[in-house]
Formats: sequence, C-alpha cells, structure tokens
Amino acid sequence: MTSRDFSHAPETVLVEAGRPHRSNGSSVNPPIELSSTFVGSGEIDHSDHVYGRFSTPAWTPFEEALAELEHAELPGLVFGSGLAAIAAALSLVPRGGTLIMPQHCYQGSLESAGEVAERSGFDFVTVDIADTAAVVTALDDVAAASAVLWIESPTNPMLEVADTPALISAACDRGILTVVDNTFATPLLQTPLDLGADIVVHSVTKYLAGHSDVVLGAALTSNEDLHKRLHSERSLRGAIAGPFEVWLALRGLRTLSVRMERAQANAALIAERLSSHPNVVETRYPGLPGDPGHERASAQMSGFGAVVAFCTETAQQATAVAEAVRVWTPATSLGGVESLIERRRRNASEPESVPEGLLRLSVGIEHADDLWNDLDAAICAAHGA
Ligand SMILES: Cc1ncc(COP(=O)(O)O)c(C=O)c1O
Repeated sequence: MTSRDFSHAPETVLVEAGRPHRSNGSSVNPPIELSSTFVGSGEIDHSDHVYGRFSTPAWTPFEEALAELEHAELPGLVFGSGLAAIAAALSLVPRGGTLIMPQHCYQGSLESAGEVAERSGFDFVTVDIADTAAVVTALDDVAAASAVLWIESPTNPMLEVADTPALISAACDRGILTVVDNTFATPLLQTPLDLGADIVVHSVTKYLAGHSDVVLGAALTSNEDLHKRLHSERSLRGAIAGPFEVWLALRGLRTLSVRMERAQANAALIAERLSSHPNVVETRYPGLPGDPGHERASAQMSGFGAVVAFCTETAQQATAVAEAVRVWTPATSLGGVESLIERRRRNASEPESVPEGLLRLSVGIEHADDLWNDLDAAICAAHGA
C-alpha cells in the first residue's frame, strides 16, 4: 500500500485535491466524465476502469479528495446516498453477530439497521453513546469477532457527544470493528481513522457537498479487506453515484472550510441566545459551556459544528415556530448554505425519546442578525400556540 502524504492542512487539501494533472493548457477542474463503459478486450483487470457500476473516472477526483481529508490510505468509495454507504457498512455485520448503535443516531440508520438485523439474523443493541461505561459494558457482552460498534458524534438530532477516542480504543482492544458516521463533524473537526476507527461513513448530501442540491454518500477505510468488501457491496447492489452529482459535490467541497467557519460562528451565537430565551425549555449545542458534551467536544474536536437543537414546551409550539419563520426554511436535512429548521418528531419513525417539542436547526451562512431576529420572532409568536 502506498502511504499518502497528509502534510497539507485540510483547508489546502479541500482546494487542491482531485485536480487534473498539470500541463500547459490543461483544465484546472476535472471534467464531467459521462461514459458508462470503458475500452478493453482481454481478461478483466479491475485496476482499470471496466464498467461504470464498478468504477469510473467520474468518481476518482472526489474519492481521492475524501481519502486525503479523512486520512484514509485507500481511495474513498462514493455511493448514491449516505444511506447506501451506511447499508454497505451494515452488510459487514455477520449472521449471529451484534451491532451496537447510538439510540439517538440518524433515524434512517436506526431504521435500516433494525430491518437488516431482522433479515440477516444479527442482534441489534442500542446504547446511550455519551455514557462511556454503558457502551464499554455492551462491548464486553458481545462476541468480539462478529460485533460492530457504530458511533455517531455529535448525534442526530440530540447533539450528544461520545468519548470517541475512548470508545474506538475500547473497541480496538477487544477486536471489535468500529464505524463512525462523521457527517455532522466533517473531517475538518475530527478524523476518526486517526483514532483507529475502521470505517468512516458520510452523508455527502450534507456539509461536504454543502448546497442541498445532491444526494450522495461515501465510505472510507485504510483496510484493504474492508475496502474490497465495501466496493463489492457497491458494485453488486448498484447503489452508485451519478457523474454530475459527484462533480457538484467536489465543487461544493472546495468551500467547506469557509462555509463551516461562518456556519459555526452563527450556530454559536444562536445557541447562546436560545439558551437564555424565556420561551425555550432546553438548548443543546456542544459549543455551549454548560452543555453536557462541551468538555468532550472541546477536547476531541476542532470546532462544535453548526447543528443546534432546542425544545419548546409542546409539539404544537414547535410546529408553529417552523411555520412562522421566513429567513429559515422549514425542511429536513442539514449542512447546506441555507438555514433549515425541523421538528424531528414530525417523522413517525424518530425515536420516542426525542422530545416532541425538539426543533433541529441546521445553521447556514446568512447574516446572524437576520437569522436570530427571524427565529426569535417565530418563537415569541408561537409561544401562545
Ligand atoms: C448523520 C446522518 N447520516 C446519514 C444520513 C443519510 O444520508 P442520505 O440522506 O445522504 O442518504 C443522514 C441524513 O440525514 C444523516 O443526518
């Protein structure tokens, strides 16, 4: 395996990775490659492009950029959606094995895992991922060779922060495979492979692409065997990405650091104001000094992200807030330049332990005053709802 050079700062990698080879008159950006098949007549050699479901030069620049950002020794694997990448990782849990997942992680991951567990015949255990002792106890209760620990931190939508270094290390010590969903943090804020995680998955749809105009996913690993298995899942199930979507994602990726910088600054300000708002019951944001995840996030992340959650007293009030905003857009998803707001329990499959009045904010890059004034007015107007 060739060792990658990770000497450049991520801000530089975002801009320089995946560019075409330089020569006089060459393009600065990769082209959109639109071939579904590739010339060849002899025995098939999978190190060459053969057919667009196996690999295509349309994916290569983005896959190389992701690998550099996540510090993966092998190229990233782009998928047709975040959930497709998650499904490929879930396929690694063998029949009779155990999957340990955060009780509040992305509801699509929970739903998918529950369904696959039943079909494939493995145990599916959920844990409070912020409770390190409880997770370690769960790790001790399983047969290590057939177990997978799934980490999402901060969690969606409760913003709980796992002790990621401690959990990965505990899983490694026991020979348990770890998968980290790094969608919320992005490789700018944490690089789980450096801590010993086996696989990182992403909903590229969110911060990496950053403009709410594509649905894409990715998986990264430095392990040759896992890479082969994930690649095979992608090729055989066919959950592949379109060339134009991948091109757009690479274009979006170029500005990740400046988008994140502004979005995080806005999120910090809004979380701080929400935390003293008379009509807000609770605010969760790891950047708030009083937040249960603050100390951990400060120690292990290089920023607090741009998702904030807060609770109104009732579901009706939360719905009224989402209906009253004008600068914010009431919509699901996160990580785009525009600010979104959603009452998560409007989705019937969201876990019941998520409060009915919880609103998840994906804070974008608009002016903070406009965001705050709009949200404050909506909260005040909804208070009597
Ligand atoms: C943390 C997280 N992981 C994975 C996904 C799934 O990604 P996609 O919608 O791209 O399939 C989401 C979607 O909201 C998410 O929030």
